[in-house]
Amino acid sequence: MRILSIETSCDETALALVSASGGEKRPCFKVLKNIVSSQIKIHRPFGGVVPMLAKREHLKNLPRVLKIMNPDFKKIDLIGVTVGPGLEPALWTGVNFAKELAKKHKKKIVGVNHLEAHLDSFLFSPRAQKFKSSEIFPAIALIVSGGHTILLRVDGFDRWKKLGETRDDAAGEAFDKVARLLGLLYPGGPEVEKSAKKGDAEAVNFPRPMANQKNYDFSFSGLKTSVLYYIRDSKGKENKSDVAASFQQAVIDVLAGKTFRAAENFKAKSVLLSGGVAANKSLRKALEKEARSRSLNFFAPEFEYNTDNGAMVAAAAYFAYLRKKKYRILAQPNLHL
Ligand code: KG4
Ligand code: ZN
Repeated sequence: MRILSIETSCDETALALVSASGGEKRPCFKVLKNIVSSQIKIHRPFGGVVPMLAKREHLKNLPRVLKIMNPDFKKIDLIGVTVGPGLEPALWTGVNFAKELAKKHKKKIVGVNHLEAHLDSFLFSPRAQKFKSSEIFPAIALIVSGGHTILLRVDGFDRWKKLGETRDDAAGEAFDKVARLLGLLYPGGPEVEKSAKKGDAEAVNFPRPMANQKNYDFSFSGLKTSVLYYIRDSKGKENKSDVAASFQQAVIDVLAGKTFRAAENFKAKSVLLSGGVAANKSLRKALEKEARSRSLNFFAPEFEYNTDNGAMVAAAAYFAYLRKKKYRILAQPNLHL
């Protein structure tokens, strides 16, 4: 079936056209079109996303992106739209746009949980599509985005259990805040990664919060505060790249530690990594290396499918279409997994 998907939960207006087949046992997705209109430049002066500005931009961009995509509605079977979690005014723009399109072209519509979409996004890598579901699951999934840090045990595309999550800042949020402390631009993740490449990850021994606790929860706000104190005490003499590299390493150590402890305890076959922070090459490499040494599969999306995009929404829409229980088609800013 052919799915048109719409994503407006944060600061990317994203649409995709995806062909889906295979069901839950061996899902196969072909991305026909994937367009992301980023609002980064608009929000950058504010150091974060401004919800009402995001709404205004989505309203402007949705018809524009649809026009560029120019889909043949006769060939579309389903419309999928992100209903939450996210910024409420931003979510409504996508929901209302999807509803209008569904009505105008007489199409079925399903609501998508943005976090489920991130979870499914690992399928957008050529390697993952070679595996049957029975070879992938049970898996441990780590979702690391600007708003969430969640560890899950996943038994199928429609079956998972949350093991733990962050108690304060999300991993991406920590990257964004540390970037600001280092005088780098928003969004901070890619900037910190770039700076870290020139630094020594062992230069500063930042704390690994909660690493030794036997739960699967995370905490990043104390780590950010340690970076703040270190910069303050260095009185401008700190090596920024060393700080970036050492901070990044602390985040990676905590994420990897908990992920692989879960993988061992739950006898997982695979580790799945997704969300905006999954674009971080050092994190990917660290997890991939550890997975290989433990004979586990490691799956992460191709670069463009880590940060918010429409293709992952189409994948989640396909699985939502296949199951009985559906999300209501209205903005649900606090929706969870
Ligand atoms: O998944 P996403 O696009 O949006 C949310 O659903 O939150 O994630 C955005 C987050 C931002 O905090 C951004 O700084 C972070 O992902 N990010 C990265 C990298 N690229 C994006 N963090 C670390 N390294 C990166 N290369
Ligand atoms: Zn996201």
